[in-house]
Amino acid sequence: MLPLQLQLESHIPLYIQLRDQLRALVHGGDLRPGDRIPATRELAMQLGVHRTTVANAYAELEADGLIRGHVGRGTFICGAANGSPITPAPPTLNGNGSVRWESLFADERGEETLNRLLQPAMAHSISFVTARPDETFFPIPELSHCCQTVMRREGAELLQFGPSDGYPPLKRALIDMLRAEGLALKDENLLITGGCQQALDLICKAFLRPGDAVLMENPTYPGAIAIFSSARVRCLGVPVQTGASPDSPQGVDLVALEATLLSNRVKLMVLTPDYQNPTGTTMPLASRRKLLEIAGRHQVPIVEDHIYARLHGSAAILPPLKQLDKTNLVIQIDSFSKVAFPGLRVGWCIAPASVIERLRLVKQTTDLHTDQLAQAILAEFIRRGQLGRHIAKTRKVYAKRLAVMTAALERHMPSGTCWTEPGGGMCVWVELPLGFDASELLIHLRERGVLFSPGRYFFQQNPQPNTLRLSFTSLDEKKIARGVAMFADLLRQEMRKRQRGARREETARVALV
Ligand SMILES: Cc1ncc(COP(=O)(O)O)c(C=O)c1O
Repeated sequence: MLPLQLQLESHIPLYIQLRDQLRALVHGGDLRPGDRIPATRELAMQLGVHRTTVANAYAELEADGLIRGHVGRGTFICGAANGSPITPAPPTLNGNGSVRWESLFADERGEETLNRLLQPAMAHSISFVTARPDETFFPIPELSHCCQTVMRREGAELLQFGPSDGYPPLKRALIDMLRAEGLALKDENLLITGGCQQALDLICKAFLRPGDAVLMENPTYPGAIAIFSSARVRCLGVPVQTGASPDSPQGVDLVALEATLLSNRVKLMVLTPDYQNPTGTTMPLASRRKLLEIAGRHQVPIVEDHIYARLHGSAAILPPLKQLDKTNLVIQIDSFSKVAFPGLRVGWCIAPASVIERLRLVKQTTDLHTDQLAQAILAEFIRRGQLGRHIAKTRKVYAKRLAVMTAALERHMPSGTCWTEPGGGMCVWVELPLGFDASELLIHLRERGVLFSPGRYFFQQNPQPNTLRLSFTSLDEKKIARGVAMFADLLRQEMRKRQRGARREETARVALV
């Protein structure tokens, strides 16, 4: 029997899941030219899906030249004389003879979540949408000095091609900074990237084939979902505990995580232990240790997204997984985007040397190397001690904003609504009473000039419509308090409408009896 497993609750259509898993079996050599695959009816029964699902998957594989059906004999994996798959049919033309480009796109990306999260705020609105630093604190004069200094000192070299693993002085500055934070590493363990988004993309390209499985938090950062699902990787979501009850510590649910590892062949886990996006939750130390123990037992590497960890408010700093890891199972990705300037697009990745070397080669085929001027400016900014000062300053500002947001939620939100209380980061996760749909509320709230991100953006399966994310770092305290009060006001109005509706229904029911 073929090792196929479809996820009924995934947002990826079943026939695409099936097509990709079969394709992965061919690419991985588990299915070879000449092998017969089950008839559509037989496979549909085996998988518990409709026969059309299997027929659709087979049709796509046949169009790709990977399989061929022979009447009366069955369907076979095919290969050219040299064993390689047959080339696909030429693209369909439009009526006017021009190429229909849509037919050539590799996937059907209809999702606009990242787009929405990246949009600039509407003028005069109170936008809790984007988890981004407040640009009014960007130290423009200091950064201009750094820029002038590096251009004077080494402008010509910076404008030339550079090494794919990163600008050496930035690597040195980061190694020193990380050592001071308690993480010792060598140059060969560090790759400069174009942010965490690129690091995730490089990791995906280096490790994952269509049909492979990745374990992720559910809900999670939509940029990660976008990368893995467009690479046809199966995203297995594990719930995040928000710490509402004392016996369920914050962070990814470790019991569900281990159950997922036991029932799937998972290639990687991608987790954000500190101030997770979107829930703001942080895994306690004991959970981090337990997670590493589970990962070690199952031999599944962890990609630790460390992007928010330096934005701790009053909370104690916990050691990252990378620091606790004794068996080289953790790849850590990090970035200047949340602690400094997302516009410079610089981040980094820490991993065993062999992994860094592979990622470096993949990066070469992606963008050759990260912008050298941006790297040099950041290296100078760190060397002058300005990054440390900038982080310390913005941390305090954000901690106050978080306190204002929590107080406003407590003061204004109607009962039945709950929210996370992160010790830092950029986001608070809100759960409305069951039956409320955050996307619908947003339509009315937008008319009043207040915006948030509906929770459904962040789920790769089983979306909870009554959830939403509030980012608090780029709004001043007054706007935070006003925005939360307006939101709570709307919510109460909607609750009253519902109560009136329910009463009317009850009266009508009694009258009928
Ligand atoms: C958890 C998480 N990872 C990665 C990213 C992308 O970061 P970067 O700007 O470094 O690419 C974000 C951005 O919001 C994020 O929230």
